[in-house]
Amino acid sequence: MDRFSFSLTACDGAARTGVINTPRGQIRTPAFMPVGTAATVKAMLPESVRETGADILLGNTYHLMLRPGAERIARLGGLHRFMNWDRPILTDSGGFQVMSLADLRKLTETGVTFRSHIDGSKHELTPERSMEIQRLLGSDIVMAFDECPALPADRDRIAHSMRLSMRWADRSRVAFGDRPGHALFGIMQGGLERDLREESAEALTAIGFEGYAVGGLAVGEGQEAMFGCLDYAPGFLPADKPRYLMGVGKPDDIVGAVKRGIDMMDCVLPSRSGRTGQAWTRRGQVNLKNARHADDPRPLDEACGCPACRSYSRAYLHHVFRANEMISGMLLTWHNLHYFQQIMSGMRSAIAEGRFDTWEAAFHADRAAGDI
Ligand code: GUN
Ligand code: ZN
Repeated sequence: MDRFSFSLTACDGAARTGVINTPRGQIRTPAFMPVGTAATVKAMLPESVRETGADILLGNTYHLMLRPGAERIARLGGLHRFMNWDRPILTDSGGFQVMSLADLRKLTETGVTFRSHIDGSKHELTPERSMEIQRLLGSDIVMAFDECPALPADRDRIAHSMRLSMRWADRSRVAFGDRPGHALFGIMQGGLERDLREESAEALTAIGFEGYAVGGLAVGEGQEAMFGCLDYAPGFLPADKPRYLMGVGKPDDIVGAVKRGIDMMDCVLPSRSGRTGQAWTRRGQVNLKNARHADDPRPLDEACGCPACRSYSRAYLHHVFRANEMISGMLLTWHNLHYFQQIMSGMRSAIAEGRFDTWEAAFHADRAAGDI
């Protein structure tokens, strides 16, 4: 099993379940990837992230090239060893983060030059350099270098940007070369324009990738517009390859995306909101900062098997958040990641057993019932 492969085991409507095989282990799909931007899933030990049910983590080219540097990580044995996670890692290619985080960006046909948001130092990212950095990191799933326009943008700007991303996808494929056991994913762009999405999918498919991402969504267009795009976009991509929706999302976004044929997702939401006192549960969002929890001896969710719910009260979670104690972020991140992975395993079983619609109805009914 030293090759990268994807096999579907069942479909239910447009929803799919299967397994991605990599030399570093299996990824059960639909998969949720916790975000480990700076070589850590914040507030979690890697073994704890694994305990929540994660098969794969996401890392970021942009952050790691700036600090501590890709060459340094390579000298130290690669990202897996550096961060003590020996399972698969997918790395984003950097273009998207440059556009949202870096200073003094300059975009040309060649790539992007920018200044670091950390120390103002000058850098360049091109498809070739992004492929080199992701190789130095030892990433298992490498993302093509793309550009994602902020929405709303006019159709001309979206078309131009998408075609540039397709030329960069071609250069990414060439620069990636032949690396058995590692995969390169192309990224579809085209905003909310159906014909541009189709043109993008055709360009990517002609190049040929081990998997395909839907990029350029969850950038402020709202759930209805995103689902509108996902009603057709996954269908433009090869059915026998994994489809990855980048940067999504809230629990109901994730469920709606899987229903429409998405196999992989990533989002900072469970880890980031865990550090701001926000919990995600079967019953919706719970803000532990709220005074209503101060005397509540009950767990966050009595049906949840995570350490935060097994051994601590809402009153304690409220207290440690208010007192700014580090355990607050640790416990809530653990709970949130556990809950997101429970959603994924619930969907995988439901799809395998042909009862996705029933599972989805129960998911929405639970949320509608409200917290406690
Ligand atoms: N993360 C969220 N959306 C995108 C996108 O369109 N491209 C890349 N590279 N990363 C993303
Ligand atoms: Zn829990």
